[in-house]
Amino acid sequence: MTDLPMPRLRTPAPTSGALVDTFGRVARDLRVSLTDRCNLRCTYCMPEAGMPWLPKSTLLTDDELVRVIAVFVGLGVDQVRFTGGEPLLRPGLVGIVERVAALSPRPRIALTTTAVGLSRIAPALKAAGVDRVNISLDTIDRDEFRALTRRDRLPAVEDGLSAARDAGLTPVKVNAVAMRGINDRSLPDLLAWCVARGYELRFIEQMPLDADHAWTAEALVSREEILERLGSRFTLTALPASSRGSAPAELFLVDGGPSTVGVIASVSAPFCADCDRVRLTADGQVRNCLFSEVESDLRTPLREGASDAELAAVIRGEMWRKLSGHHIGADDFHQPDRSMSAIGG
Ligand code: GTP
Ligand code: 5AD
Ligand code: SF4
Repeated sequence: MTDLPMPRLRTPAPTSGALVDTFGRVARDLRVSLTDRCNLRCTYCMPEAGMPWLPKSTLLTDDELVRVIAVFVGLGVDQVRFTGGEPLLRPGLVGIVERVAALSPRPRIALTTTAVGLSRIAPALKAAGVDRVNISLDTIDRDEFRALTRRDRLPAVEDGLSAARDAGLTPVKVNAVAMRGINDRSLPDLLAWCVARGYELRFIEQMPLDADHAWTAEALVSREEILERLGSRFTLTALPASSRGSAPAELFLVDGGPSTVGVIASVSAPFCADCDRVRLTADGQVRNCLFSEVESDLRTPLREGASDAELAAVIRGEMWRKLSGHHIGADDFHQPDRSMSAIGG
C-alpha cells in the first residue's frame, strides 16, 4: 500500500474539478446497485429466507438513476459498474445501459453478476453498451455450488459464462471468494476449468460483509494460503505491480501464461490507498467506501427538485469525508449495517 498524504480535513470540499477526497484520491469508478434482490442465497452473503428487501418506493426509478449517473459522469467518473444484489433482476436493465452508453463522455460499462439468466440476455446487453462482465462463481463442483448458493443453478451459470464470451463481453472475469471448509480444497480445480475456457479467474479474500455477521479472522483463507494451494498444481509467476494500477487484483501468469490468475487480498493487503471507487445504492444513497458507516442521501433532494449542481455538491461532500481505509480485524472495526447484497460488491 502506498503512503497517503496528510488529509486536509478542515477545509471544505472543492466545488469544481475531479471528485477528490482529503487524501488526494480521485473517484472515477462508480458502482451502481440496481436492486438488493438476488437469485442465489450464498451462505456468506444472505440468509436462506432472503432479507427485508428495500421498499419499492425507495428505489430510484430508471429516469432518476440515469440522471444521477449523468451527474457522476460530469464529475469525472469514467467507468460505471452495475451490481446488485443481482443486476439482471432489474426489469429496465437494458434500457438503463443504453441511456448510460449515450452519455457524453461515454463511460465504460461493466456488470458484476451471478450469470443466472445471462445466457438469454448477453447479446442484448452487448448491443446496449455493456463492455464486459465479472461473474461470481466460487466452485465448479455441482454439490459444492448447491450447498454454497442454496440453489442448484450451476448449469445456468456455465451457460451464462459461455454466452458472455460468445457475445464479446470480454474479458470475462470470474470472482471466487475463498472459504474455509467450503471451496478451499477445490481452488485449483476452478482455476484449471477457467484456464481451459479463457476466463480470467480472481480469488478473493472474504470480507466481513455477511448478513449473519459470522466472519472471523481465524477462518480467513488468506492470499498466502490461496497461492500455496494453487502452487501445488500450477507454476505461478507474479506480474509487475505496475500492471495493476488501481485494480484490486494482483496478477500471476499460470504455467508461463498467457492465462492469468488474480488474487484480491482485500483483508491481508488492502488497496485502499489506491481506491478510486464510489458507490450508489439502489435506494439512492452515496457511499464513499464499502465499509462506510455513513451515507449521503441523493434520493430526497432528487425528488424535491434539486439541480444537477446541488446533487453534485452532495456527492462531493460525501467523498470529502472518505476515511483512509477499512479497519478489518482491528479492535475499532464495525461492520456496516448494510450487507454486501444491499451495497453492491
Ligand atoms: P475489475 O475492474 O474488473 O477488476 O473490477 P473489480 O474487481 O473492481 O470488480 P468486482 O465487482 O468484480 O469486484 C471484485 C471483488 O473485489 C469483490 O468481490 C470484492 O470482494 C472486491 N472489491 C470490490 N470493490 C471493493 C472495494 O471497494 N473495496 C474492497 N476492499 N474490496 C472490493
Ligand atoms: N467478501 C468478499 N467478496 C464478496 N462478495 C460477496 N460477498 C463478499 C465478501 N464478504 C463478492 C461476490 C461477487 C462480488 C460482487 O462480491 O463473490 O463476486
Ligand atoms: Fe476503497 Fe473502502 Fe474498498 Fe478500501 S475498503 S478499497 S477505501 S472502498
